[in-house]
Amino acid sequence: MERVRYYWDYLGLDDLLGAQRLASAEDGATPAHDEMLFIVTHQAFELWFKQILWELESVVDTLAAVPVDERDMGQVLHRLERIKEIQPLLVQQFAVLETMTPLDFLDFRDQLIPASGFQSVQFRLIENRLGLDPAKRMKIQGAPYTSRLSQEHAQRLLASESQPTLLGVLDAWLARTPFLHFGDFDFWSAYRDAVTAMIERDRKLIATNASLDEVSRQQQLDAFETTVETFATLFERERWEDLRARGKRRLSHEAFLAALLISLYRDEPAFHTPHRLLRTLVDLDIGFNAFRNAHAQLVHRTIGGRIGTGGTSGHEYLEAAARRHRVFTDLFDLATYSVPRDELPRLPAEVRQQMAFRFQSG
Ligand code: HEM
Repeated sequence: MERVRYYWDYLGLDDLLGAQRLASAEDGATPAHDEMLFIVTHQAFELWFKQILWELESVVDTLAAVPVDERDMGQVLHRLERIKEIQPLLVQQFAVLETMTPLDFLDFRDQLIPASGFQSVQFRLIENRLGLDPAKRMKIQGAPYTSRLSQEHAQRLLASESQPTLLGVLDAWLARTPFLHFGDFDFWSAYRDAVTAMIERDRKLIATNASLDEVSRQQQLDAFETTVETFATLFERERWEDLRARGKRRLSHEAFLAALLISLYRDEPAFHTPHRLLRTLVDLDIGFNAFRNAHAQLVHRTIGGRIGTGGTSGHEYLEAAARRHRVFTDLFDLATYSVPRDELPRLPAEVRQQMAFRFQSG
């Protein structure tokens, strides 16, 4: 028999619209008016989380291929950009929920305990898929994040921690960059010379700056030496790996050098797409951070300094999580190693030719 598709059924609206069960209205009590908004907003978030995960998983699958088919890169970017478009919607949704005042929330808050967004499995899956370092995760009263979840959900999340992550597949893809070595041309020593010249110039600028008194000059020079140290780690694999072991770097040494090369020579046609990918990942990190900060502010204005229904310190916990739970910080740090275009080592002609797009007719 021919199936007639019907809008209501296709969208599963019996389930979707029947899923707003107000805790305040249980046992025939008068419902707290704003609890409907509270539930609908959370559900809208969870739907968007579902879409984000859908995109993220397909992107990780594609980038996990060895080698990645260049033809797939457009789609990878397209899907990541879709996530980027969803992120501002998440932030805006908080503004709608902020029309609920602290007193409105108190009408039903106690009935929520111990449930909390802390238990959002999909949010944790997104974090894990992106590549949040499990060792960096904030604890809740000394216990892991999974301790507040059902056994089934805890197991699902623990399993997701060992699945491929966006950061992991990005690392492997970058480390395979064909242009990391240039035959006889020792790019990294040429780059090091350019960096040394830049450092010397910057140091001289501070040393001769007439507007600084001696104390401020020394302070600035001390701070400057820290930056110089940062450069040193770039050229010494062991120091890099040491930082990595201490969780201060996430990308492997090869991957970081490749990312640096891409951002320094992003004008070369072969690097256009990789460069866009790196920038989009930075945008995504910023977008998730904006979500976390907007949420922390909503929490501060709605419950003040109270603890959360899940038992954390509330907004203070959330602000600390926003700082710690970022994933692509290495890509932000690429900017530290930028050198003005006209001081960059010139790539050998044959390398530049390989990096150009060529169209051969006939
Ligand atoms: C009045 C509204 C809200 C309040 C007062 C609130 C409060 C809190 C608090 C205090 C926490 C920390 C855990 C705890 O102690 O419970 C938390 C965590 C969380 N909430 Fe909310 N929240 C609200 C709305 C939302 C909405 C609409 C979402 C969207 C899904 C959400 C998602 C989350 C997530 C994902 C976490 C875990 C964050 C992390 O651990 O990094 N919250 N919330």
